[in-house]
Amino acid sequence: MAAVAEVATKPLLKKAWTAADPILEVRGLKTWFPITSGILQRTIAHVHAVDGVDLTIKQGETLGLVGESGCGKSTLGRSILRLVEPTEGEIIFKGENLLQLGRGQLRARRRDMAMIFQDPFASLDPRQTVGEIVGEPLDIHGLAENKKLRQERIQELLRVVGLNPSFGNRYPHEFSGGQRQRIGIARALAVDPSFIVCDEAISALDVSIQAQIINLLERLQDQFNLTYLFIAHDLSVVKHISDRIAVMYLGKVVEVAGANELYRKPKHPYTGSLLSAIPIPDPRIERGRERIILRGDVPSPVDPPSGCRFRTRCFKAQEKCAQDVPPLDTVHLGDHEAACFFPLD
Ligand SMILES: Nc1ncnc2c1ncn2[C@@H]1O[C@H](COP(=O)(O)OP(=O)(O)OP(=O)(O)O)[C@@H](O)[C@H]1O
Ligand SMILES: [Mg+2]
Repeated sequence: MAAVAEVATKPLLKKAWTAADPILEVRGLKTWFPITSGILQRTIAHVHAVDGVDLTIKQGETLGLVGESGCGKSTLGRSILRLVEPTEGEIIFKGENLLQLGRGQLRARRRDMAMIFQDPFASLDPRQTVGEIVGEPLDIHGLAENKKLRQERIQELLRVVGLNPSFGNRYPHEFSGGQRQRIGIARALAVDPSFIVCDEAISALDVSIQAQIINLLERLQDQFNLTYLFIAHDLSVVKHISDRIAVMYLGKVVEVAGANELYRKPKHPYTGSLLSAIPIPDPRIERGRERIILRGDVPSPVDPPSGCRFRTRCFKAQEKCAQDVPPLDTVHLGDHEAACFFPLD
C-alpha cells in the first residue's frame, strides 16, 4: 500500500501538526436539520441531532461511540467528514479547522479520511463490479496513474482485506455479508486514509463474522497506523476494539473514559443504565447485581429538555439538573469525564 508516512507531508498544513497531537478535536459541534412546513417550506423548528459535542481523538487510537438509536452518532461521524454540513463549531483535523476550508482544500483533506458503513447491502452499488467499487475513490482523487497501476492497486486492496484479488470482476450479490463488508473496507482504504469512521460497521453481521471483521480492522489499524471512530449501539460490541469510549445521549457526549474504566466505574447514570442492560454470563453475579431501569422514552431531539437532557429519565435527577447544563468535565478524573451533577460512585 502507498506510504502512509506521506500523509505527514501532504500540503495544506498551516501549522506544524505532529503525531503526538490529537488527530482530531471536535469543539462545540452542532449539526441541526431544519424542519420545514407549507408551500414556502418555511423552517419551523430544528432537529438538534448533534448539539454541542466536544471530542478528542488521539493518533492511532480507537474511540468507541455508543448511544441509543437516534442520539446523533451517525450525524456526528458524517459531520466530521463533512458529508453533512455542521451548523456551528470546530473540527480540527491534524491541526486544521475543516469547517474553514474551501471546496478544493476540503477535497484534498478528504483523501485522508474515510467511512465504513453499516449495511454492506445498501452501501455497495449492485450494478458495479467489485473492481469498480474499490477503484472509484482512486478515480475521484486521481490516485492511479494508468490502468495497469489502477488494476494492481485494486488487487492489492482486495488482498489486504483478505479477499481473492481475482474477485474484481464479480458483483456484490455474489458475496456473503462478511465478504461484502470486506469490500467496503477495501474501498475505504483506497484513498490511503489515516482516519476512518466505522459506522455500525459490524452491527448487521452474525456474531462469528463480527469477530472476524473486528480482527481485520485491528490488523489494518496496526499495519497502516489508522485511527478509528467506531460507532455502535451496543457497549458490548465496542468494548473489545476501543481504547476509549464516548457515550452519547440526545445529541451530546455525556461521558468519556478509557474502555475498562468506563466499564468498571461508570459515572453517568445513563452509562450505568446501558451497562446494566448487558447480561453477565455468570448467573451468581447476574442475580446479585443492581439493574438501572430507565423510565420513559428518549425525548424528541426537536425540543430537548432544559438543563441536563437525561434528567427526565434519570433516577438521580434533582432541581439543579433542570436548570443548568452540566459540562462534560463536571466529573473530571484524569482521562475520565462525565456531564453529571450527581454522578454514580
Ligand atoms: N438528513 C436528516 N434530516 C433530518 N433529520 C435527520 C437527518 N439525519 C438524521 N436526522 C435525525 O437526527 C437524529 C439523529 O440521527 P442519527 O442518524 O445521527 O442517529 P444515530 O445515533 O446514528 O441512530 P442509529 O443508531 O439508529 O443509527 C434523529 O432524530 C434523526 O431522525
Ligand atoms: Mg446511525
